[in-house]
Amino acid sequence: MNILVTGGAGYIGSHIVKTLGERGFNIVVYDNLSKGHRDAVLYGKTIIADLANAQLLDTIVGDFKPDAVMHFAAFIEVGESVKDPIKYYWNNVANTINLMHVLSNHGVNRFIFSSSAAVYGNPLKVPIPETEPIKPINPYGQSKAIIEDILYDMSAMSDFRFVSLRYFNAAGADPSRRIGERHDPESHLIPLILKTAQGKQKCLTIYGSDYPTPDGTCIRDYIHVNDLAEAHLLALDHLLDNGKSDIFNCGYGHGYSVQNVVEVAKKVTGTDFAVQVKDRRPGDSPVLVADSSKLKQILRWKPNYDDVEYIVRTAWEWEKLQK
Ligand code: UFG
Repeated sequence: MNILVTGGAGYIGSHIVKTLGERGFNIVVYDNLSKGHRDAVLYGKTIIADLANAQLLDTIVGDFKPDAVMHFAAFIEVGESVKDPIKYYWNNVANTINLMHVLSNHGVNRFIFSSSAAVYGNPLKVPIPETEPIKPINPYGQSKAIIEDILYDMSAMSDFRFVSLRYFNAAGADPSRRIGERHDPESHLIPLILKTAQGKQKCLTIYGSDYPTPDGTCIRDYIHVNDLAEAHLLALDHLLDNGKSDIFNCGYGHGYSVQNVVEVAKKVTGTDFAVQVKDRRPGDSPVLVADSSKLKQILRWKPNYDDVEYIVRTAWEWEKLQK
């Protein structure tokens, strides 16, 4: 079975590539390495190229003849998307259309899309079901919502079928310590906490302690990246079994505040690092927690790592190996 993985050198993509590789799939990773790392690709062949290069993409797809495509390649910074929306629409929307155009020319009709909780904006209902209105509050979330609409239109018109997985907060690292989260610059909470514990930054900044939550800090649903990887494998099985196009939230269904995560990290690292509170970060929702019952019921997803301490510990084991 041949799987084309765009963005397979990135944080989430590389964990899925490892899972696919361990299960014997043939993999081609297509990644421009603008954010990813070549050494994070543990299985398959890596093509270093941009999705804007439709001609090369056409050749790769024609030669490899993928049975399915997993599309991770995208920019992911909410704040940057607000400052530079065209950059986001160009890469996350225009380049995805390029990819879908090539796939449709070659009759590749199974597609797994990396969507995001960001499509919900400020949801009224928490835990958030997939039926909650799509109201993104930043161009990043909007870029994901646009692609979901296009995927619906494509699947209505042909035998093209997709699964869109709306990730909540992917976190942690593979216990092999060979791959983990490595963004540059880093903006995510857990790696920044761990860099502070290591002394790579002096102090952790908590963005806002006046949210309407029990301790005033934002609540997120942190999902171990390997449980997220498993959701992709189940989505792939679903499409290979002729399952219908669908959208699923990926999270555990309960959240932790920034303050909770800081406390867990102090315990895991054995370090009482410095913490300061600053103003809210623009674009942050107070609470994002998934209702993932659909993923459990339809795809029969059974999370294995629903334990925030385990998540932080695996991230810490990885972070300790970084320069
Ligand atoms: N936070 C801090 N200090 C930091 C970094 C983060 O207090 O130094 C807080 C944020 O304000 C937020 C929480 O920690 O409340 C989590 O922040 P992250 O940046 O780790 O994650 P986000 O929830 O902002 O973003 C995640 C994904 C995005 C996706 C978004 C959907 O990483 O790609 O969820 O809402 F768009």
